Amino acid sequence: MKVLVTGGSGFVGAALCADLVQQGHHVVAFDNNSRGHARRLAGLGDGIEFIQGDVRDADQVRAATRGCEVVWHLAYINGTRFFYERPDEVLEVGIKGALNTIDAALSEGVRRYVLASTSETYVEPSKVPTDESEMLKIPDVTNPRFSYGGGKITSELLTLHLAAKRGLETVIFRPHNFYGPDMGVEHVIPEITRRIVEMSDGLKLRAVDLPIQGDGSDTRSFCFISDGSRGALIAGDRGASGEIYHVGTDHEVKIADLVRLIGESLGVTVTLVPGVKPPGGTSRRCPDITKLRGLGFEPGVSLEDGVGQTAKWYADDFLGSNIAEVAHRD
Ligand SMILES: NC(=O)c1ccc[n+]([C@@H]2O[C@H](COP(=O)([O-])OP(=O)(O)OC[C@H]3O[C@@H](n4cnc5c(N)ncnc54)[C@H](O)[C@@H]3O)[C@@H](O)[C@H]2O)c1
Repeated sequence: MKVLVTGGSGFVGAALCADLVQQGHHVVAFDNNSRGHARRLAGLGDGIEFIQGDVRDADQVRAATRGCEVVWHLAYINGTRFFYERPDEVLEVGIKGALNTIDAALSEGVRRYVLASTSETYVEPSKVPTDESEMLKIPDVTNPRFSYGGGKITSELLTLHLAAKRGLETVIFRPHNFYGPDMGVEHVIPEITRRIVEMSDGLKLRAVDLPIQGDGSDTRSFCFISDGSRGALIAGDRGASGEIYHVGTDHEVKIADLVRLIGESLGVTVTLVPGVKPPGGTSRRCPDITKLRGLGFEPGVSLEDGVGQTAKWYADDFLGSNIAEVAHRD
């Protein structure tokens, strides 16, 4: 089967492309490479075709969709600083991207449309573990931060009430904190790894005192990319049309424990120095994944294994580069 993956050279998109190729599909990866990298698709052979294009361009999207049976729509602008600096673009890519991919899917006879949404749409969930019925929120429309979640909420509405009503099968999956090597540096694991590498003088010191925001008691769950991609694939393949699925793990971990684990995997004992917690952060986030389990999903990679692999990958990357430059690259 021929399938389209928008955002196909991104962190999640590339892993999904690899899994889809592995399943025997012919995959068209579509991306403008603003944050995507061709290197992530290297080695996928004849099963992959890369098209450089922009989801805001309806003609380009339609041409890429031709002959595809399933559209996986992942292209989006990620990275917290962009939500503040370029909310206009976040919304434009989010909403035009959703409309253009849905229109193309409808006019090109696509059977199924799969949308990547996000756990960010819950902001501060009312219960943890959180299931898919949790209310989605935009607490303050004047805050550009919510361009990201707002674009995703709109994309979900378009998927459920436009794409589905006009004849597409639809599935929405909400990823919860996927991580792994080459994920981009704007995430907690690469960021903490960079600071430990810097503060330990390139891992020469065996112990460091690491200032953190707050006291580290906030929690998250982290899902290694191979599990995340497999979970997305299961949701998109086997999910019932019109349904929404969490993809993640239900292993809730305190940020303090995560930081210590990153240190341990690099051979550095980290003592946390609590600091001021910035306002507006989310204190707990962990998905209920019962619904995805019902389709046969079970996470396979432990936090220790996954964090170890990721921290070491980033430490090697930072040690081989100019850390100041690396800190600002995607
Ligand atoms: N990684 C996670 O844990 C996570 C969590 C929640 C939601 N998601 C969602 O999953 C999807 C993939 O996320 P990711 O982590 O791989 O991020 P990513 O930034 O690595 O991937 C997004 C891709 O979209 C591409 N893109 C951006 N604007 C584009 C445009 N105008 N036209 C074409 N391509 C464009 C980027 O170049 C990038 O390759 C996104 O929709 C994201 O919102 C991811």
